[in-house]
Amino acid sequence: MTLRIRPSGQACGAEATGIDLTQPLSADLVAEVRAAWLQHKVLSFPDQRLSDDDLERFTRAFGGFGDDPFIAPIEGRNNIIAVERKAEEKAPLFAENWHTDWSFQAAPPAGTCLFGITVPPVGGDTLFANQQLAWQALPAETQAKYRDLIAIHSAKTAYAPEGMYGKEDQTTDRSMKIMPSDAALALQTHPLVQAHPETGELGFFSCLGYIVGIEGYSEQDAFSLLSELRTWQGRDEFVYTHKWQPNMLVMWDNRALLHRATGGHEGYDRLLHRTTIRAYSPR
Ligand code: SIN
Repeated sequence: MTLRIRPSGQACGAEATGIDLTQPLSADLVAEVRAAWLQHKVLSFPDQRLSDDDLERFTRAFGGFGDDPFIAPIEGRNNIIAVERKAEEKAPLFAENWHTDWSFQAAPPAGTCLFGITVPPVGGDTLFANQQLAWQALPAETQAKYRDLIAIHSAKTAYAPEGMYGKEDQTTDRSMKIMPSDAALALQTHPLVQAHPETGELGFFSCLGYIVGIEGYSEQDAFSLLSELRTWQGRDEFVYTHKWQPNMLVMWDNRALLHRATGGHEGYDRLLHRTTIRAYSPR
């Protein structure tokens, strides 16, 4: 098998072909894919007829499973969730705001794998914003303003009982199995600007939403700073628009990106299976 990589020509993202992910990958091939993933941050693998076993094997090859709170796994699996929306569903779109998966954890997942099963003929794109570019594009004096800030993360605005997917959301027709809980109120700090643990490149980690404050800032000042920053983080020049196909696997690097869903597929089902890749630890 020979891996071929075709960059998207946008701020990040590349298509990976020439390999069959229904088969175990050799250590050399895993290393090649990993290098391409670190370079392009989002890799899409079209035309892969993956079973849930294949998706799990792929995830294990890149570091094993992360811990996925607040969303029930699909039946018979501990580490796969369904990102699902029915054609007629009226609940607010899942994951519509920029975010980094589970950035409120002490050791957030290095990456996420998402496999397209039912892909609508219109809409349903996923946007990725390159946070290393967002950092590099700032003038030095603005970088200095952010460089040493400590961000306070929490899942509370999303998964606490009073959050976006909380008690009230449980009364909607949402297909996804979300499990709000008081555990979402916990706080976790991370530097706002981080060196990527594998490449050393600096970038912003996460954004307003899962970031709920800044150490040493009043609530209002932190909100103003994070709102302004989020506008910058999601600027068009940092964004790759990913268009899905059925049987396409996408893996992305949470340490270098924000991402969000866009919807726009009313009248069509959409179903993807998702795993997270646990935090990197050098062997
Ligand atoms: C996600 O954030 O995991 C879902 C993205 C999407 O539905 O496009």
